[in-house]
Amino acid sequence: MKRRPIITIDGPAGAGKSTISKLLASRLSFICLDTGALYRAVAYRLKCEGWDGAAGTIADSGRLLKVSLKHEAGRVQVIVDGEDVSEKIRTEEIGLLASRISALPQIRENLLPVQRELAAAGGVVAEGRDMGTVVFPDADVKFFLDASVEERAKRRYLEMVCKGERVNLTDIGNDLLLRDRQDRGRSIAPLVIPADAVVVDSSNQSIPQVVDFMISVVERVCPLRECFLPEFT
Ligand code: DC
Repeated sequence: MKRRPIITIDGPAGAGKSTISKLLASRLSFICLDTGALYRAVAYRLKCEGWDGAAGTIADSGRLLKVSLKHEAGRVQVIVDGEDVSEKIRTEEIGLLASRISALPQIRENLLPVQRELAAAGGVVAEGRDMGTVVFPDADVKFFLDASVEERAKRRYLEMVCKGERVNLTDIGNDLLLRDRQDRGRSIAPLVIPADAVVVDSSNQSIPQVVDFMISVVERVCPLRECFLPEFT
């Protein structure tokens, strides 16, 4: 049986990957695999455990955390060692810590099979930093979603203000630049444009424009309607 398509979306923090992946997945009746949530979940637990920031102590502790995503009734729960951390991981602090720990080989090795397992049946829009390069190098369609740092900071600022958080636009811009440096500069699985990816700059495009464009690319590459059905043989 041929698996259903895997679509990857890589890109820097704040480029709109999560909103666009969810919409794209919903238009295609696929599931959305938010791999950043897995890194955030690990970061959250390490913070709760008072991790001292040294790479060696994760390995020394002898236990790698068990992380999973549960898709239920259109909602995704992020579970780490049995605890639902879906809401607690959505802070700037956890985002920055996730970016730091994602440079550690033992963390990436632990999460690699989790991500592949979640996408085993296909019918997935997977978003992150190394989707098209490392986790799903044979994905059917690959996108790299980018936007200027000013635009990304502005979007993140508005998103946080809407959530009722007191934030400062300059701080958010600086956090994004720091995360860009960490995510692009690490030695394993850095954020790079996959060789065969379609690059989309969303700085001057609305969300529906980006999603419509991506759908047009997916339909060109995977034109068989049947391949979107669950039992495509
Ligand atoms: O997409 P996000 O902001 O939720 O991701 C948080 C951090 O996790 C990001 O700064 C880097 C790391 N990450 C990663 O290294 N590889 C991925 N595939 C996804 C996220």
